[in-house]
Amino acid sequence: MTESTAVPETMTAIVVDEPGPATTLHPATVPVPPAYIGEVLVKVAAASVNPIDTKIRSGASPTAKALAYPATLGHDFSGTIARAPYEAHPLQPGTEVYGMTRLPRYTGSHAEYVSAPTLCVAPKPHSLSHVEAASVPLAALTAWGAVVDVARAHHGQRILIHAGAGGVGQFAVQFARFFGADVISTASGRNVDFVRSLGGSTVIDYTAARFDDELSDIDVVIDLIGNVSDDTGSRSLRVLKPGGLFVSVPTGSFPTMHDEADAAGITATRFTLTPSGDVLAKITRLIDRGEVRVHIDKTYELADAAEAHAAVESGHTRGKVVLTV
Ligand SMILES: NC(=O)c1ccc[n+]([C@@H]2O[C@H](COP(=O)([O-])OP(=O)(O)OC[C@H]3O[C@@H](n4cnc5c(N)ncnc54)[C@H](OP(=O)(O)O)[C@@H]3O)[C@@H](O)[C@H]2O)c1
Repeated sequence: MTESTAVPETMTAIVVDEPGPATTLHPATVPVPPAYIGEVLVKVAAASVNPIDTKIRSGASPTAKALAYPATLGHDFSGTIARAPYEAHPLQPGTEVYGMTRLPRYTGSHAEYVSAPTLCVAPKPHSLSHVEAASVPLAALTAWGAVVDVARAHHGQRILIHAGAGGVGQFAVQFARFFGADVISTASGRNVDFVRSLGGSTVIDYTAARFDDELSDIDVVIDLIGNVSDDTGSRSLRVLKPGGLFVSVPTGSFPTMHDEADAAGITATRFTLTPSGDVLAKITRLIDRGEVRVHIDKTYELADAAEAHAAVESGHTRGKVVLTV
């Protein structure tokens, strides 16, 4: 056992000097972050970009205020342990891992090294490349939390998942299907077959039909859109059966949710993810057994992080966008 491999004092990271547009992202030489007690230092091979990264970068997320600037963004990573917490720890240097940083105060993964609590890290799935593995943690943990922990997906349940083609949606559809639910989803026409291939029994092209004209008696809605687009949240309340459950994932996307849900006799809850290496290990098993797959929309070099942010901000990527480091 070795406590660490050779780690330089500085590294290249993508930073922002203050909240702003994607074009303000730029490479910089910064200190390699310290790994404090209970943390590992990971040499990053790939790191994905999530909508939360773009919202923090633009200042739209309150987390933008929790960061010290210049700030390195990015939560997800896949790579190799460079520094273990202690000599006998199972995650020794050289171990391939994937995971995510703590929320909301963190040093980001869009860099050559990232430190993260051991509680947020798990051994990388054998069946995935680093690029594929880096696309999993934040999106899959969100999907697991909403679909498995909150909605308790099970046989006989009819569950509507909006945006089934997106980063979170692709996992939400597969987890709900795995646990036996009948999965209905929304996507634009070009993604309908993709979402069907993930396990959606009915996939509604939201550009051609209104889901609330087509659906009723739904047990659970997992809303990954909110009222920011065509009143998706409000319209979802109409398709739920009395006593149904509405789960709102994008923070702040449906401000009148509780009032509208109370009036409709629907139970409504917001959801925010908790990073967990233990849950990630369960997801690893599903991936390595071939029960769950990942789709990468496109990979970008770390230096092209601004392009990757712009792609995610378009709101129409399929699966995930990943940076190679
Ligand atoms: N609260 C939390 O802890 C938490 C955690 C993770 C994510 N989130 C939030 O959850 C949301 C989803 O995250 P994500 O990573 O899945 O985003 P994403 O990957 O950017 O989602 C993109 C997908 O959304 C689909 N889409 C866009 N407009 C749609 C509409 N009106 N109806 C149905 N589908 C539509 C697109 O499909 P088409 O191209 O076919 O339109 C695309 O595939 C984001 O707002 C994110 O910030 C919150």
